[in-house]
Amino acid sequence: MSDEGHSSVPEASHPVQAGNEITRRDFLNEITLGALGIAGLGSVAVTYQFLSPNVLFEPSTTFRAGNPDLYPVHSVTFLQDQQVYIVRVPEGFYAVSAVCTHLGCVTQWKPDADMIACPCHGSKFKADGTKIEGPAPRPLPHFAISLTADGELLVDKLQNINFSQVLKV
Ligand code: FES
Repeated sequence: MSDEGHSSVPEASHPVQAGNEITRRDFLNEITLGALGIAGLGSVAVTYQFLSPNVLFEPSTTFRAGNPDLYPVHSVTFLQDQQVYIVRVPEGFYAVSAVCTHLGCVTQWKPDADMIACPCHGSKFKADGTKIEGPAPRPLPHFAISLTADGELLVDKLQNINFSQVLKV
């Protein structure tokens, strides 16, 4: 009795063999489903990226430069975060770009030499941006400058203005 029981169990209904065959099939099915799932997620991500707006948030080109009284007459003040010089002369104010017109280096005001100098290739400019020497092809541009309703200087770096335009305060 015990022999019959032993001989029939391993051949017909051996749980390990049947389990192996089913497991392999299940494994392949799951691999396939997994691959399809990953491919599906990838295509959803690519589609989302394609459909989402490609907006570049840039800092504002207009900024307040504070009260005019902050700037003494005959002064050149470098505003590092804006890369602009606020120049005050007896006639009024102008705003000069601090970015060199040669290859875009940020220039430096040299009070001892009374000029703006570019550290990269040696261009030199007067305080009003006029080129003195060096490879820079153009003078430093002037930006539009005005007063806000509450009396602060307002510079618009998107608007270049003529050198002769001075904000009288
Ligand atoms: S970048 Fe200023 S001189 Fe070249």
